[in-house]
Amino acid sequence: MNLSDLQTPALILDREAFGHNLKTMAERFPGTTLRPHVKAHKSTDIAAQQAATGHIGFTCATIKEVESLANAGLGSDLLLANEVTDARRLGVCAESTGARITVAVDSEFTVNAAASGGVREVLIDVNIGLPRCGVAPEAAGRLADFARSKGLHVRGVMGYEGHLMMVSNARDQTDKVAKAFALLTQAAEQAGGEIISGGGTGTFMIHHQLKVLTEVQCGSYVLMDTDYAKHGFNLRQALFLLATVISVTNQGSDNGWLVIDCGLKANGMDHGNPSVPGGDVWFCSDEHITVAPHREGPLATAKVGDKVLVVPAHCDPTVAYHEQYWTIAGWPEGEPIASIAVQDRWPVDMRGW
Ligand SMILES: Cc1ncc(COP(=O)(O)O)c(C=O)c1O
Repeated sequence: MNLSDLQTPALILDREAFGHNLKTMAERFPGTTLRPHVKAHKSTDIAAQQAATGHIGFTCATIKEVESLANAGLGSDLLLANEVTDARRLGVCAESTGARITVAVDSEFTVNAAASGGVREVLIDVNIGLPRCGVAPEAAGRLADFARSKGLHVRGVMGYEGHLMMVSNARDQTDKVAKAFALLTQAAEQAGGEIISGGGTGTFMIHHQLKVLTEVQCGSYVLMDTDYAKHGFNLRQALFLLATVISVTNQGSDNGWLVIDCGLKANGMDHGNPSVPGGDVWFCSDEHITVAPHREGPLATAKVGDKVLVVPAHCDPTVAYHEQYWTIAGWPEGEPIASIAVQDRWPVDMRGW
């Protein structure tokens, strides 16, 4: 099967770039110093390959992600880095699969939910500046004591600096991340335990130098998107969308455009429009992207029926719209997109909640 045989829009994974990203991060963060966040890709096939490079523990955002990994035999150390008010499915999952499951807590309510749901281990989630989940750093010790009083093992603390991922000035970003993680260190001293977990694809280089964390939680690194590409890391774009040209207007004029069948229902749009190499995206609607082709390049003479690539602006929500990845070996120089061979189908099997 070639790319031209696929129904579009279709999620495409470039195995060469993907392999490069896996290897790069396995070298930088060997073994358990990286706990990949699976919400970025939602695929047990991808998780299995991360585990094969030594990253055997995973970070999850949903109970469904925990269950999927455990059922796929990837449950040696799963962290649900999110609060849940009903942990019974986690308890059942641990019992039935033997998975080691740790859940984040930031209130007495979520501690009680973990204990009564059959979860045995928790991380104290600490607010280090992102107004989302997390206790105040000075309250971490108290909550850890409360968790212990309920019979739970407190493995340590986590904090997520999502508000600092895209700070464009490198020195400014380093200063802000250092300040945020000084708060987490303070919380860790009070809460006890051996784990200090946090970080993401926008900050992993800083964490590599700061050495506050015992593990980083990067997720997007393995697929990448145009937003994180702005950082200029040595990571490659592995995720694409394949689309088909369905309409062409005023070709060759200054006011020409193409319409492709890959709109905002196939693209996570919270980080802006996706990119279309060889053109400027004018706008996205439900099932269309309208693109002005550059005078020269891959779209200059595009015809109805041609295949076109789209690069997502935000990988996580984009992936969650799709049922599967179609993998290819890479993008051979000069080969038309349509004739590139499809290797495998990897289900996006951690979708849902
Ligand atoms: C708790 C948590 N950890 C880590 C991450 C990092 O993910 P990424 O590397 O995709 O930025 C996120 C992303 O939102 C997150 O919510």
